[in-house]
Amino acid sequence: MGEQLRERAEELAARLTLEEKIGMIHGAELFATKGVERLGIPPLRMSDSTMGVRQEFEPDSWKAIGHSDDFVTYLPCCSAVAATWNRKLAYEAGSVLGAEARGRGKDVILGPGVNIKRSPLCGRNFEYFSEDPYLTGELAASFIRGVQQWDVAACVKHFAANNQETERLWVEVEVDEEVLRTIYLPAFYEAVRAGGALTIMGAYNRLYGEHCCQSDFLLRRILREEWEYDGVVISDWGGVHDTELAAKSQLDIEMSVTSDFDQYKMAKPLQEMVEKGEILEHVLDEKVIHILMLMLRLHMMDDKRKRGCYNTEEHRQKALQVARESVVLLKNEKGHLPLNPENCRRILVIGENGDCVHAGGGGSGEIKALYEITPLMGIKKLLGGNCQVDYAAGYCRDGGMTAGEDTKANANWQEASLENGGGSVKYQEADEASRKLRQILKEQAVAMAGSAVYDQVIFVGGLNHDQDSEGNDRPDMKLPYEQDSLICELLKVRPELVVVLMGGTPVEMGEWIDKAGSLVWCWYGGMEGGTALAEVLFGQVNPSGKLPESFYKSHKDCSAHCVGDFPGTDRVCYREGMFVGYRYLDTFDIEPQFCFGHGLSYTEFDYGKAELTVAENVPSEADDKKVQCAGGRKVFVVCEVRNTGNRAGKETVQVYLQQRARDLRMPYRELAGFEKVELLPGEKKIVKILLKGRLEGKEIAVGSSSGDIRQVVKGMFEE
Ligand code: BGC
Repeated sequence: MGEQLRERAEELAARLTLEEKIGMIHGAELFATKGVERLGIPPLRMSDSTMGVRQEFEPDSWKAIGHSDDFVTYLPCCSAVAATWNRKLAYEAGSVLGAEARGRGKDVILGPGVNIKRSPLCGRNFEYFSEDPYLTGELAASFIRGVQQWDVAACVKHFAANNQETERLWVEVEVDEEVLRTIYLPAFYEAVRAGGALTIMGAYNRLYGEHCCQSDFLLRRILREEWEYDGVVISDWGGVHDTELAAKSQLDIEMSVTSDFDQYKMAKPLQEMVEKGEILEHVLDEKVIHILMLMLRLHMMDDKRKRGCYNTEEHRQKALQVARESVVLLKNEKGHLPLNPENCRRILVIGENGDCVHAGGGGSGEIKALYEITPLMGIKKLLGGNCQVDYAAGYCRDGGMTAGEDTKANANWQEASLENGGGSVKYQEADEASRKLRQILKEQAVAMAGSAVYDQVIFVGGLNHDQDSEGNDRPDMKLPYEQDSLICELLKVRPELVVVLMGGTPVEMGEWIDKAGSLVWCWYGGMEGGTALAEVLFGQVNPSGKLPESFYKSHKDCSAHCVGDFPGTDRVCYREGMFVGYRYLDTFDIEPQFCFGHGLSYTEFDYGKAELTVAENVPSEADDKKVQCAGGRKVFVVCEVRNTGNRAGKETVQVYLQQRARDLRMPYRELAGFEKVELLPGEKKIVKILLKGRLEGKEIAVGSSSGDIRQVVKGMFEE
């Protein structure tokens, strides 16, 4: 199949002129290449991102066209998808995105982002899945399969080691090659091998002295030679710096943010070098062949292409399902949650995030959502008028009240995005007027919260896309806008306050966490995020989200900060090596606020005795070194799980490989498998989990989170 495709692509490529080839390998619009009309080769049309298909821009300016036809389904962000720990839902989310991309006439959707969350301060963390390579790879592969069933290519990004926004265009990443291969590359490997990603986007940063978008090491040695990738490599927008290096690298398409398309490195400058004989035309042929193979795979030149659709009821339902399973119940000490709607006559919702929409922010991941249900609206919708729901802002962002809108995005930020190294740390500005306003809002909210008229008070705060944003990292993990002091004051007058926080990455909670009885974390949950949150708060949905990343007490507990550099200046040294996220915390006994894999339910699950089974003579995935094949065998953990409570619920059983004796040179514990299972009250099911990773010298820990290991299985791999 691959060979036939290649032959057809070669035949077509042989008929192209130099100019036509050049047109195909660089942006001729901000989101499209040039086609070749005389041969029926269309332009390649691209669009951001992972939470939905971005609005339409003018072909040559970052001015939104502004028609009404580009509102779309707004999906939960990648971190939320990861929190579901549900491969099927990741597939469904991808499928919605693929259908909408196709429905909007796109060929390539620029996502998902699979960079590892090395630090909680990276501004784009909300666009990424997890700190764990295995979890990221599993979910990304499912997501990509979902996208691509619609004859649309996913573009997995940003390849590779793109873990910060500060100086993102120039920063040189210093990382040991084994660490790179163990922590930062596996999710890309899974995305292209298991997910079959048809395109991949090079990263802005430099690695081993090369810009990733023109890196010989990454693109030729790893991607093409080791992983045998024959898809299309697209640059990040403005990530190409040198005509000759780019031309001779395995990059296929150069994209950028400016409208001088002819001046792109792989446009006129490359054509001239070829004409002068400084670069052989042959290097272009390979790029064009990759692009033509992609077009053939997507049926762009025949009449077999699938028809997409957007804004369907089905898509909204799927967005809701993902949002439901992404909500993480972090704390529920006295079983205060779920709230009983029957006991609520009058409740109070406090916090700007209660009444704020987020779709339009964050950078290139912005979405022109058909609608977005806020937490406040979700709660009101659920209570159906039988309960009076009052609202108090309690705090506001710098610059004052938002009146429901999140974004003050400057339409042209992307054009300017190549300035100043492309990004920096964004410090909270001390804005006196906003501080004063917040003081007033706080006093009002605290006075209201203390009033006996309210049966319940719910605080909804956290981050917004001023912090969770492309182009800037956070200086620390502190909650912005003096929310800590607000929460403390609220807890004094309302000890049973329900705290809900929203964000793409954790925040410090030390000032109040011991006093708060119930805490719910929701991410940017998409257009139905508020519906899902309300259903969890009022018990219509039993929460089943689990943290796909460590919630540190402070960023200072994160290895990137206390061992390595973050964000560095022109170089950033990943001195922490393999010890990323829980790999560091668990090895060195550092207690997080909430550990990797943590998430409570309104019911309880009991684990039976876990055992190992081996499937003999499986047609071995010979090249897949990560499936544990002791002589062609696949190893499974089999374990019975029983719902011992009186509500239906879902549990994610997690399997970690851990060292038998602590050796501080390697991570103590690593995720090696997981399955999510749904159980009615009293029901039990056998869960069978395929293990990935090297078992020798390890014991197998089965648990409900990395910090709640229920048992350790010994057995067949005893030496
Ligand atoms: C981002 C990419 C995005 C591209 C196109 C860049 O600034 O890094 O993730 O896909 O712009 O908008």
